[in-house]
Amino acid sequence: MTSFTAPGLSTAAADEVTGILQERLSALNDLHLTLKHVHWNVVGANFIGVHEMIDPQVELVRGYADTIAERIATLGSSPSGTAKAIETDRTWNDYSIGRDTAQAHLGALDLVYDGFVSSHRDAIAKTGDLDPITEDILIGQTAELEKFQWFVRAHVESYTGELTTAGASSETAAAHAARAEH
Ligand SMILES: [Fe+2]
Repeated sequence: MTSFTAPGLSTAAADEVTGILQERLSALNDLHLTLKHVHWNVVGANFIGVHEMIDPQVELVRGYADTIAERIATLGSSPSGTAKAIETDRTWNDYSIGRDTAQAHLGALDLVYDGFVSSHRDAIAKTGDLDPITEDILIGQTAELEKFQWFVRAHVESYTGELTTAGASSETAAAHAARAEH
Protein backbone atom coordinates (compact mmCIF):
# COMPACT_ATOMS: atom_id res chain seq x y z
CA MET A 1 0.00 0.00 0.00
CA THR A 2 1.31 3.39 -1.02
CA SER A 3 1.71 5.92 1.85
CA PHE A 4 2.61 8.88 -0.40
CA THR A 5 2.24 9.54 -4.10
CA ALA A 6 2.41 12.27 -6.73
CA PRO A 7 0.59 15.49 -5.77
CA GLY A 8 -3.05 15.54 -6.87
CA LEU A 9 -3.28 11.75 -7.17
CA SER A 10 -5.08 9.65 -4.55
CA THR A 11 -3.16 6.76 -3.00
CA ALA A 12 -5.93 4.41 -4.14
CA ALA A 13 -5.50 5.55 -7.75
CA ALA A 14 -1.72 5.31 -7.40
CA ASP A 15 -2.01 1.72 -6.17
CA GLU A 16 -4.15 0.83 -9.15
CA VAL A 17 -1.73 2.49 -11.59
CA THR A 18 1.39 0.91 -10.06
CA GLY A 19 -0.29 -2.51 -10.21
CA ILE A 20 -0.81 -2.04 -13.95
CA LEU A 21 2.74 -0.70 -14.36
CA GLN A 22 4.33 -3.63 -12.49
CA GLU A 23 2.85 -6.04 -15.03
CA ARG A 24 4.17 -3.84 -17.88
CA LEU A 25 7.60 -3.67 -16.18
CA SER A 26 7.82 -7.46 -16.14
CA ALA A 27 6.63 -7.55 -19.77
CA LEU A 28 9.34 -5.06 -20.80
CA ASN A 29 12.01 -7.03 -18.92
CA ASP A 30 10.82 -10.23 -20.60
CA LEU A 31 10.83 -8.49 -24.00
CA HIS A 32 14.41 -7.20 -23.87
CA LEU A 33 15.62 -10.66 -22.77
CA THR A 34 13.67 -12.26 -25.61
CA LEU A 35 15.14 -9.80 -28.11
CA LYS A 36 18.69 -10.66 -26.96
CA HIS A 37 17.80 -14.36 -27.27
CA VAL A 38 16.83 -13.73 -30.91
CA HIS A 39 20.02 -11.67 -31.45
CA TRP A 40 22.06 -14.69 -30.27
CA ASN A 41 20.09 -17.46 -32.02
CA VAL A 42 19.44 -16.10 -35.50
CA VAL A 43 21.26 -17.97 -38.30
CA GLY A 44 21.27 -18.07 -42.10
CA ALA A 45 21.65 -15.74 -45.05
CA ASN A 46 20.13 -12.65 -43.37
CA PHE A 47 21.98 -13.15 -40.09
CA ILE A 48 23.85 -9.87 -39.89
CA GLY A 49 20.92 -7.63 -40.83
CA VAL A 50 18.61 -9.12 -38.21
CA HIS A 51 21.35 -9.56 -35.57
CA GLU A 52 22.17 -5.86 -35.86
CA MET A 53 18.55 -4.68 -36.19
CA ILE A 54 17.71 -6.19 -32.80
CA ASP A 55 20.27 -4.45 -30.56
CA PRO A 56 18.96 -0.86 -30.77
CA GLN A 57 15.50 -2.22 -29.85
CA VAL A 58 17.02 -4.03 -26.84
CA GLU A 59 18.48 -0.72 -25.65
CA LEU A 60 15.18 1.09 -26.24
CA VAL A 61 13.15 -1.53 -24.35
CA ARG A 62 15.65 -1.60 -21.45
CA GLY A 63 15.26 2.17 -21.25
CA TYR A 64 11.47 1.82 -21.23
CA ALA A 65 11.70 -0.68 -18.36
CA ASP A 66 13.78 1.88 -16.46
CA THR A 67 11.18 4.59 -17.13
CA ILE A 68 8.31 2.40 -15.93
CA ALA A 69 10.19 1.22 -12.82
CA GLU A 70 11.01 4.81 -11.90
CA ARG A 71 7.39 5.85 -12.48
CA ILE A 72 6.33 3.13 -9.99
CA ALA A 73 8.81 4.53 -7.45
CA THR A 74 7.69 8.11 -8.15
CA LEU A 75 4.11 7.06 -7.39
CA GLY A 76 5.26 5.68 -4.02
CA SER A 77 5.52 1.94 -4.68
CA SER A 78 8.44 -0.47 -5.02
CA PRO A 79 9.16 -1.80 -8.53
CA SER A 80 10.03 -5.50 -8.75
CA GLY A 81 12.74 -6.05 -11.35
CA THR A 82 13.84 -9.61 -10.61
CA ALA A 83 13.62 -12.72 -12.78
CA LYS A 84 11.14 -14.09 -10.23
CA ALA A 85 8.92 -11.04 -10.75
CA ILE A 86 8.86 -11.66 -14.49
CA GLU A 87 7.85 -15.27 -13.89
CA THR A 88 5.18 -14.27 -11.35
CA ASP A 89 3.68 -11.43 -13.39
CA ARG A 90 3.58 -12.92 -16.84
CA THR A 91 0.53 -14.61 -18.31
CA TRP A 92 2.28 -15.63 -21.54
CA ASN A 93 4.69 -18.44 -22.36
CA ASP A 94 8.45 -18.22 -22.73
CA TYR A 95 9.61 -17.45 -26.29
CA SER A 96 9.69 -20.84 -27.97
CA ILE A 97 12.14 -20.60 -30.90
CA GLY A 98 15.82 -21.54 -30.49
CA ARG A 99 18.47 -21.51 -33.22
CA ASP A 100 16.59 -20.69 -36.41
CA THR A 101 16.62 -18.57 -39.56
CA ALA A 102 16.04 -14.84 -39.69
CA GLN A 103 12.64 -15.39 -41.32
CA ALA A 104 11.52 -17.88 -38.66
CA HIS A 105 12.50 -15.55 -35.80
CA LEU A 106 10.89 -12.51 -37.42
CA GLY A 107 7.67 -14.45 -38.00
CA ALA A 108 7.61 -15.44 -34.33
CA LEU A 109 8.69 -11.99 -33.15
CA ASP A 110 5.74 -10.44 -34.97
CA LEU A 111 3.47 -12.47 -32.67
CA VAL A 112 5.48 -11.39 -29.62
CA TYR A 113 4.88 -7.75 -30.59
CA ASP A 114 1.17 -8.44 -31.25
CA GLY A 115 0.82 -9.53 -27.64
CA PHE A 116 3.05 -6.84 -26.16
CA VAL A 117 1.56 -3.89 -28.04
CA SER A 118 -2.02 -5.03 -27.37
CA SER A 119 -1.27 -5.19 -23.65
CA HIS A 120 0.44 -1.76 -23.67
CA ARG A 121 -2.69 -0.37 -25.39
CA ASP A 122 -4.85 -1.98 -22.70
CA ALA A 123 -2.69 -0.30 -20.05
CA ILE A 124 -3.14 3.06 -21.85
CA ALA A 125 -6.92 2.59 -21.72
CA LYS A 126 -6.88 1.63 -18.03
CA THR A 127 -4.57 4.45 -16.88
CA GLY A 128 -6.14 7.25 -18.98
CA ASP A 129 -8.69 8.31 -16.39
CA LEU A 130 -6.55 7.47 -13.36
CA ASP A 131 -3.28 9.17 -14.27
CA PRO A 132 -2.78 10.91 -17.64
CA ILE A 133 0.95 11.34 -16.93
CA THR A 134 1.40 7.56 -16.88
CA GLU A 135 -0.89 7.29 -19.91
CA ASP A 136 1.36 9.73 -21.79
CA ILE A 137 4.47 7.66 -20.98
CA LEU A 138 2.78 4.48 -22.25
CA ILE A 139 1.54 6.20 -25.43
CA GLY A 140 5.06 7.36 -26.33
CA GLN A 141 6.48 3.89 -25.76
CA THR A 142 3.75 2.19 -27.80
CA ALA A 143 4.36 4.40 -30.85
CA GLU A 144 8.03 3.36 -30.99
CA LEU A 145 7.26 -0.31 -30.35
CA GLU A 146 4.68 -0.31 -33.15
CA LYS A 147 7.28 1.20 -35.47
CA PHE A 148 9.74 -1.59 -34.65
CA GLN A 149 6.99 -4.15 -35.30
CA TRP A 150 6.71 -2.62 -38.76
CA PHE A 151 10.47 -3.28 -39.23
CA VAL A 152 9.82 -6.91 -38.25
CA ARG A 153 6.71 -7.26 -40.41
CA ALA A 154 8.39 -5.77 -43.49
CA HIS A 155 10.55 -8.93 -43.57
CA VAL A 156 7.54 -11.27 -43.64
CA GLU A 157 5.35 -9.15 -45.91
CA SER A 158 4.60 -10.04 -49.55
CA TYR A 159 4.61 -7.49 -52.37
CA THR A 160 0.81 -7.56 -52.24
CA GLY A 161 0.93 -6.41 -48.61
CA GLU A 162 0.05 -9.67 -46.90
CA LEU A 163 1.90 -11.26 -44.00
CA THR A 164 3.21 -14.72 -44.85
CA THR A 165 2.45 -15.62 -41.22
CA ALA A 166 -1.22 -14.53 -41.37
CA GLY A 167 -3.45 -16.72 -39.24
CA ALA A 168 -0.60 -18.31 -37.27
CA SER A 169 -1.67 -18.56 -33.65
CA SER A 170 1.61 -19.76 -32.13
CA GLU A 171 5.24 -18.70 -32.48
CA THR A 172 6.09 -22.15 -33.82
CA ALA A 173 3.39 -21.92 -36.50
CA ALA A 174 4.45 -18.38 -37.46
CA ALA A 175 8.11 -19.46 -37.66
CA HIS A 176 7.15 -22.40 -39.85
CA ALA A 177 5.04 -20.24 -42.20
CA ALA A 178 7.74 -17.56 -42.49
CA ARG A 179 10.48 -20.16 -43.08
CA ALA A 180 8.46 -21.90 -45.83
CA GLU A 181 8.44 -18.73 -47.94
CA HIS A 182 12.24 -18.72 -48.24
FE1 LIG B 1 25.66 -8.82 -29.41
